[in-house]
Amino acid sequence: MAPIAADGSGVRSAAVSCQGRPRRRGLGTVALAVVLAAACADAGVETRSAQRAASAEPGGPAPSATDAPAADDSPSTTDGSPSTPGQAPNEPAPTSTPVPASAPATGSGPPDAAGPPGPNDDLASAGDSLFPELGSSTIDVQSYDVRIAYDPSTQEIDGQVVIDLNGQPSEQVVLDAGDLRVDAVLVDGIDAQFEQRGEELVIWPVTPGRQLSVDVRYQDQADDGASAAGLNVGWFATATGSYVLNEPDGAHSWLPSNDHPSDKALWRFEITVPAGLTAVANGALVEERPGDGTTTWVWEESDPMATYLVQLLTGEYTVIDGGNYGVVPLVHVALTDDAALMQPYFDVTDDQLAFFEPLFGPYPLERYGLAITESFGGLAMETQGRSLFSRDDLPGGEPGVIEHNLLSHELAHQWFGNAVTPADWSDLWLNESFASYAAWLWLDHIGIFPLEQTAEGTLATRQYGSESTGEPTLGNLFGFERYDGGAVVLHALRRELGDEAFFAVLQTWVADNDGTSRTTDDFVGTAEQVADRSLTEFFDTWLYATDLPDGYP
Ligand code: TRP
Ligand code: ZN
Repeated sequence: MAPIAADGSGVRSAAVSCQGRPRRRGLGTVALAVVLAAACADAGVETRSAQRAASAEPGGPAPSATDAPAADDSPSTTDGSPSTPGQAPNEPAPTSTPVPASAPATGSGPPDAAGPPGPNDDLASAGDSLFPELGSSTIDVQSYDVRIAYDPSTQEIDGQVVIDLNGQPSEQVVLDAGDLRVDAVLVDGIDAQFEQRGEELVIWPVTPGRQLSVDVRYQDQADDGASAAGLNVGWFATATGSYVLNEPDGAHSWLPSNDHPSDKALWRFEITVPAGLTAVANGALVEERPGDGTTTWVWEESDPMATYLVQLLTGEYTVIDGGNYGVVPLVHVALTDDAALMQPYFDVTDDQLAFFEPLFGPYPLERYGLAITESFGGLAMETQGRSLFSRDDLPGGEPGVIEHNLLSHELAHQWFGNAVTPADWSDLWLNESFASYAAWLWLDHIGIFPLEQTAEGTLATRQYGSESTGEPTLGNLFGFERYDGGAVVLHALRRELGDEAFFAVLQTWVADNDGTSRTTDDFVGTAEQVADRSLTEFFDTWLYATDLPDGYP
């Protein structure tokens, strides 16, 4: 897997104008398809999405495969061609043959009635319906202590992670570990055996049922590659540093972990970079420690967090105190040269929080902020407690439609996705449809697009959707049906229940499940409890059907 061009080239786009808007890649733009179509149509500029929206009427042509948002908007592969969902050109096929990483010590090895226990052949899985190879259901991680030294000039990652696990039933622990070069593993401070099988790291012996501390020392070369869901994920090298994009399955390409959203944990990061550079991770900056030609930056995340929400940046960054919104500290991060330019975006945060809190309930996490990295346009990711954006999408000046849409979408994820996290990747609409709907609400609030117009237009486009919102296929996981196509489901629910009950459902959902991972069935349960009636027919019609009614309830 080759790193993205160090200057981020090959994947550039101008973000603000309709005119000459190139093919944009990156998922933030998925949410934009419809609103942009409207914006650009209003401005008298035809875009591909506008053409699609215009033709999205009965009898009109259905969007072609290349118009599908996931394919269109995915980050490109490193050769510059758009990545195709379902194809992972850069991903090495997992090996089915075990690759021993260390010679088992005498007396260990395959289970043997006489000898001490060795690793068994059990395939670890969190039981995900789209990514069965991810995670391990027998592990419950309490905390990750990540210590990484990164040198942008060599792109070498020198890593250590100490993972505290709750008592688990088996005599082995299985982590997801990509193709990392694992040097050593210690369990409770004592050298353990380990073996890498495909992308799994099998560790033994462990005493079942006890709390354990698993310490993995490893190395890796910065690399990003296509996920099975069609997006590029992993550790991206930039001209002067790096950033990570983990969703859905990229974390274990640079960090041994239980790489599944059903297992949230607390995190501490200790990142060492050459002196003069800054390292940024989720949470609060607790220490900046000078070393021998290096600086170590220590960050702590105190809200439970899934692996896919990790933020890790290195480079020429400045950490900016954005004051407080009520009790919520705002901490922003920008490339040092960009700090002043980005101020207008930081300034929107307070207004958006003030708008969302009455609708969704109090901001659910310890802190918030924006981090703006050097990357391709269209990148926007709700990294926990500080959303990640590309400087290509935030050119400075008064925020326009695209910026408002991206900023509100990622902020809303802090309630929907980060505080309450999907238990299975097929529950992704609980993130993307909600964040997309929140952006509709914001764009309506600031007078850019009236909500009813957006909702009607998107329902018309949704008639050409290719699958239900609630049952995604892997290759189209981040497709239209999860984004604006799924916001339609929420608008329909609002019509079905009325405004008061609808927002009570959203608030109850977050209040009752903050800090946990939940399924769509759990959400249906909350909705039925608040509405005090069965909603089976409603969800069968709107969430689980490929073809939707052509009018709202
Ligand atoms: N969750 C992101 C969003 O809200 C989309 C996303 C998923 C993404 N995986 C990604 C963006 C990888 C960039 C790279 O829009
Ligand atoms: Zn999103």
